[in-house]
Amino acid sequence: MGASFATLHVLFLIWFFPIAFSLSLFFFKAESNSNVSCNEKDKQALLTLKRAFTDHEHVLSSWSDHKDCCLWDRVFCDKKIGRVSELHLNHSRLGGEISGSLLQLEHLNYLDLSYNDFNCTRIPIFLGSMFSLTHLDLSRANFSGLIPHQLGNLSSLRYLSLRNNSDLYVDNLHWMSGLSAIQYLNLGYSDLHREVDWLQIMSKFPSLSELDLYNCQLDSLNPSLGFVNFTSLQVLDLSKNHFNHEIPNWFSNLSTSLLRLDLYNSSLKGNILPSIFNLEKLEYLDLGLNSLNGPIPSSFGNLSRMRVLLLDHNQLNGTIPKSLGLLSRLENLYVGKNSLTGIVDEGHFRKLSKLKELDMSEAGLSFNVNSNWVPPFQLEYAYISSIKIGPNFPSWLQSQRFLSVLEMSMSGISGKVPGWFWNWTSNITVINLSNNRIECDVSDIFLSHTVKELNIANNSFYGPISTFLCQKKIRKNKLEVLDTSNNLLSGELSHCWKYWQSLIHLNLGSNNLVGRIPYSMGALVNLQSLCLQNNSIYGDIPSSLKKCLNLRLIDIGDNHLSIIPLWIGEMTNLLVLRLRSSEIKGYIPQQICQLSSLRVLDLANNSLSGSIPNCLKNISAMALPDSYDNSFSYFVSFIYWNMQASYVENVQLGPKGKEMEYKENLKLVRLIDLSSNNLSGSIPTEISNLSKLRFLNLSRNHLMGEIPEKIGSMKDLESVDLSRNHLSGKIPPSMSNLTFLSLLDLSYNNLSGRIPSSTQLQSFDALRYIGNPQLCGDPLPKSCTIEEQSLNRSPIGSVEDDSKNSSFYISMGVGFTTGFWAICGALFFIRTWRDAYFRFVDEIKDWIYETTMRKMNLL
Ligand SMILES: *[C@@H]1O[C@H](CO)[C@@H](O)[C@H](O)[C@H]1NC(C)=O
Ligand SMILES: *[C@@H]1O[C@H](CO)[C@@H](O)[C@H](O)[C@H]1NC(C)=O
Ligand SMILES: *[C@@H]1O[C@H](CO)[C@@H](O)[C@H](O)[C@H]1NC(C)=O
Ligand SMILES: *[C@@H]1O[C@H](CO)[C@@H](O)[C@H](O)[C@H]1NC(C)=O
Ligand SMILES: *[C@@H]1O[C@H](CO)[C@@H](O)[C@H](O)[C@H]1NC(C)=O
Ligand SMILES: *[C@@H]1O[C@H](CO)[C@@H](O)[C@H](O)[C@H]1NC(C)=O
Ligand SMILES: *[C@@H]1O[C@H](CO)[C@@H](O)[C@H](O)[C@H]1NC(C)=O
Ligand SMILES: *[C@@H]1O[C@H](CO)[C@@H](O)[C@H](O)[C@H]1NC(C)=O
Ligand SMILES: *[C@@H]1O[C@H](CO)[C@@H](O)[C@H](O)[C@H]1NC(C)=O
Ligand SMILES: *[C@@H]1O[C@H](CO)[C@@H](O)[C@H](O)[C@H]1NC(C)=O
Ligand SMILES: *[C@@H]1O[C@H](CO)[C@@H](O)[C@H](O)[C@H]1NC(C)=O
Repeated sequence: MGASFATLHVLFLIWFFPIAFSLSLFFFKAESNSNVSCNEKDKQALLTLKRAFTDHEHVLSSWSDHKDCCLWDRVFCDKKIGRVSELHLNHSRLGGEISGSLLQLEHLNYLDLSYNDFNCTRIPIFLGSMFSLTHLDLSRANFSGLIPHQLGNLSSLRYLSLRNNSDLYVDNLHWMSGLSAIQYLNLGYSDLHREVDWLQIMSKFPSLSELDLYNCQLDSLNPSLGFVNFTSLQVLDLSKNHFNHEIPNWFSNLSTSLLRLDLYNSSLKGNILPSIFNLEKLEYLDLGLNSLNGPIPSSFGNLSRMRVLLLDHNQLNGTIPKSLGLLSRLENLYVGKNSLTGIVDEGHFRKLSKLKELDMSEAGLSFNVNSNWVPPFQLEYAYISSIKIGPNFPSWLQSQRFLSVLEMSMSGISGKVPGWFWNWTSNITVINLSNNRIECDVSDIFLSHTVKELNIANNSFYGPISTFLCQKKIRKNKLEVLDTSNNLLSGELSHCWKYWQSLIHLNLGSNNLVGRIPYSMGALVNLQSLCLQNNSIYGDIPSSLKKCLNLRLIDIGDNHLSIIPLWIGEMTNLLVLRLRSSEIKGYIPQQICQLSSLRVLDLANNSLSGSIPNCLKNISAMALPDSYDNSFSYFVSFIYWNMQASYVENVQLGPKGKEMEYKENLKLVRLIDLSSNNLSGSIPTEISNLSKLRFLNLSRNHLMGEIPEKIGSMKDLESVDLSRNHLSGKIPPSMSNLTFLSLLDLSYNNLSGRIPSSTQLQSFDALRYIGNPQLCGDPLPKSCTIEEQSLNRSPIGSVEDDSKNSSFYISMGVGFTTGFWAICGALFFIRTWRDAYFRFVDEIKDWIYETTMRKMNLL
């Protein structure tokens, strides 16, 4: 074996050597003509650099001493002189230290360190001495602290990006004037608010063509400046700042150069003046999410290069100018969420043959096109909710062959779905036809594998749900969101759930469904919300649902269930459990306390008996301060598919007696509602550990004993209803510490003694305390000194009528408070003001309102 291998080896060498020799000669020759190998000093500098980095991904593994450094990964040389000219170290998960050896690379002109993690360290000052640099990218590299003034010494720099680091800031920007060659400047996410002259400084760069100051905490665009000399500026992004003034005139100076202007979400006010937007080269204009009012200028029709026009989320009024129909290059037109009026017809789209994205939702418009209109465009995204389109189903949709999103909720469509519709949806991802009056047999629905959302809530879809769920033609569906609530679906929940395993959000509420919840629903392992409320479902909640470990919301209220299963404690991701009005008997299992993420526990109006579990403090989402996390928000408004679509949960809750719909505002709710059951025993004292709870309703039970003495430590409480129990003892003095309290009902118990005095407690109507014969003091007519004085009982019915001053604050801004909001809306999130506001809502008498308004007018 060994011998024959040696023979082969020798043979190989004899044959191969001459070839290899001549080849290497050839290469040597070529190289000597034009490629010089790496400079030794540069190589050593790079090796030092590598040693100081932490390189978890081994992206620098090719950087080794015995190899020409010009051949290393991410290193580029000027081949003629063998000096390193470019380092592309982006997206490398590098960390650790940036060695000063970089300074040895005298010919380095391109340095990209973006998308690394330098652990909140400062930007190295020595970078300001790398005078050969023309390109410096430090974006998203987790630098923090003061941006070093020394960077202003880089007079050859053409490209500088510091975008999206952690907490970079400047004390001033005067040092920046040294960047005389700068063409691209991106300081996005840095805090620049300390420099009031930023505009004057940045407009002095003669070659600046792109300036990005996204989210830089700027508070003025200096509207008083008559002239700003951005001679070469093509792209300007000032989104997500807070300017609080009108769009300044100086933008009109940019008419010869500006191609793209972003002023999204920047608190801009006032009208869009045609004189400012005489920007003839403009291709991209984003003024969305501001407070702009007045009309859309018809002169926009002259901006013939416009591709993207985003004016959504403002208060623009008037009609949409027909001239927009002339923008033959327009691809995206967003005018949704405004206060526009008037009719949109064929003329508005006359030349819009390139249009791909159209947002006209919630803008106050009506669509009126001929039934045989064939649009010039092929849309991909159609957001046309809350715009009057019906009563007929729009037949022009049939011509749209590339549509991905059809949001056509609340558009006044009634009657039958045309025959072509379901086959036509074969390329669609999102179908939202909710809140219309559409009639359709569910067995006609066809869902191709592209559809991720079908929302037909609030219509007249009819037929047995099993024919829909079990039909062969939709077994390959990949549906993630199915909302058929508020329709006329009937029959039993089928056993075909195995075909629906992609489902994440399922709402079949308010139909005519009957029967038991099938065991086979346990197949829905991706399910996060299960809503079956308001049907005629009976029996047990099957234990197979334990397998749906992602469940965050269960709503089976308004049905005919039996008991609360013990295994519910295993559903540790649950955020919302609503089983109200479902004829549930038995007791509340201790296991419920294992649901540490629970924010909403609504078991009201059942036949539950026994006592309230004394372990509630284990529900840490209601107990721990700082337990707020975004996951609840993300769950409530589910945004998916590249942010092009969203689905908002919808739950009926009655935190203050009257049920209302909670959507986005669900994320603010922390609620326990056990009212109208047969619960007995005392209120567990440890309930006062639930310091994040906002709504507590234990009314209409048989609870005895005292109100927990430390109830005042539940500082976020907005509503407490303990009425119609057998509670005794005094009202705890700590209650006067509940400054957010806007509803309190302690009526019809056996409470005694004086009502503690506080701004809050005396502000409630006496009806909130009646039915406690031994209770005395303001606001009851019975004063505490004359014990015998009898109570003036009011009719029982009037106790209920409090909804007018107690709805959840998200829904406020109606009635007399509107005027108040118009002035103080912005102050809402300042805690003391919010605090004061709640006092207003409750204790307000007209004179308080009037004097306040007058004071404000004076100011
Ligand atoms: C110089 O080196 C590069 C590799 O870095 C190679 O692709 C190129 O062919 C070489 N040039 C010559 C003339 O050999
Ligand atoms: C680094 O950035 C360049 C230019 O943006 C890009 O082409 C390259 O793919 C990036 N490198 C990595 C590893 O992502
Ligand atoms: C930035 O660095 C800080 C401090 O070490 C670290 O906590 C954080 O996770 C880092 N952020 C990113 C996005 O890498
Ligand atoms: C990040 O910085 C912190 C101190 O700010 C330090 O404790 C930690 O070790 C650093 N992590 C790395 C990976 O350098
Ligand atoms: C660089 O800039 C700093 C501050 O802006 C200045 O003090 C320093 O003298 C400059 N260094 C060089 C070498 O130009
Ligand atoms: C900014 O950086 C953070 C991490 O530091 C990242 O989560 C976020 O997506 C980035 N934003 C943008 C717009 O790049
Ligand atoms: C604007 O800047 C350019 C070049 O920097 C200069 O030539 C021109 O005079 C300036 N115009 C005004 C009115 O300042
Ligand atoms: C638009 O709103 C302004 C007030 O913001 C009002 O003065 C004007 O009359 C309105 N225009 C139309 C067409 O409704
Ligand atoms: C679906 O898209 C393809 C191209 O992606 C197109 O040819 C076809 O006509 C579309 N189907 C419908 C029903 O629009
Ligand atoms: C829908 O398509 C199916 C086959 O894909 C076909 O059998 C059916 O006739 C079509 N329905 C209509 C109304 O076009
Ligand atoms: C109200 O709260 C304050 C501070 O949180 C506390 O010192 C005081 O004792 C509380 N009052 C009552 C009556 O519990």
